[in-house]
Amino acid sequence: MSDRTSDQRTLFDPFVMGSLILPNRIVMAPMTRNRAGAEDTAQPIMAEYYGQRSSAGLIITEASPISRQGTGYLNTPGCYSDAQVRGWRQVTDAVHAKGGLVFLQLWHVGRISHPSFQADSALPVAPSAVKPGGEVTTREGPRPYVTPRALDLDEIPFIVGQFRHAAEQALAAGFDGLELHAANGYLIDQFIRDGTNKRTDAYGGTPQNRGRLLQEIIECVAEIWASDRIGVRLSPASGFNDMRDSDPHQTFGYLAEMLSSYGLAYLHVVEESVESGFDWEPIRRAYRGTYMANGGYDHASAAHALSRGHADLISFGKAFISNPDLVARLRRGISLSPGDRSSFYGGGERGYTDYPAVSFAN
Ligand code: PHB
Repeated sequence: MSDRTSDQRTLFDPFVMGSLILPNRIVMAPMTRNRAGAEDTAQPIMAEYYGQRSSAGLIITEASPISRQGTGYLNTPGCYSDAQVRGWRQVTDAVHAKGGLVFLQLWHVGRISHPSFQADSALPVAPSAVKPGGEVTTREGPRPYVTPRALDLDEIPFIVGQFRHAAEQALAAGFDGLELHAANGYLIDQFIRDGTNKRTDAYGGTPQNRGRLLQEIIECVAEIWASDRIGVRLSPASGFNDMRDSDPHQTFGYLAEMLSSYGLAYLHVVEESVESGFDWEPIRRAYRGTYMANGGYDHASAAHALSRGHADLISFGKAFISNPDLVARLRRGISLSPGDRSSFYGGGERGYTDYPAVSFAN
């Protein structure tokens, strides 16, 4: 494990993450909420929502498409147009006004899209022409996924260029850093895992080749952002979006080792698994740097993960939806409000900005 700046390891101790000081180790995980407006632009209500949650040690925004090609859901806020930058600027201003820190999660969905999201009704792109099981929600209702078009070798720089452009836009929007979404079955993860990557060129086959797109994106984005402002999110054992890998320990052990050399802000790992009893320790040990764990943690298990040195930071998803003051509640042992699932995805302020913080006045 890397040097700690503090020998205290409770959720409420500050954490030095590169050039940033996080006031606590409770991170708001990225969560799609589908409240963007016309042209997939962040709305004022989103500034209110993120501002309400700014006591998190760090906020990671919902996933933000880096291009129209990278879009696969309704009302997800993008980060490629100048109007989208202005939309996000309201969010970063609101969080900073309350002393918070916020990273933008950069997203290309790859095959998890549909021609109706694409320019000229084109096919979604992917490493290989492997169709996901399941359905996509389009404006016209649910539709089966289609077989994506495999990217040509000479198109890969164009994908990396989309990440570069979005990283520049994120800088212009006033974010504190960015997270590359390399998890949950989206484009980068489709390259990483061999269930979706059947390529025989330099981007397929070995873990090194399957990790090459991620590596090239990091190296390109690191020309714009200091590497300690770039996080990476992986989900080594999740089956979400019809994903599989024949040897997750080999694939992600390699990636953890490879990523250790970049001096990143953090590695964020979705620790949920299709296989019960999946052993996270080899992947964790292979990463030398700040490790952020995610997936079903509560106060006790998060505190334990920190105290035993498994993780440096813990990200919480659903708990932040219905508890804007999650940090204060955990600190004071106040019970958490349950969330209303029917308002997780889409809609207005109901189930979004109307969850109250507990009042501590007495
Ligand atoms: C979703 O919109 O359902 C979604 C988005 C990003 C994720 C996971 C799920 O990483």
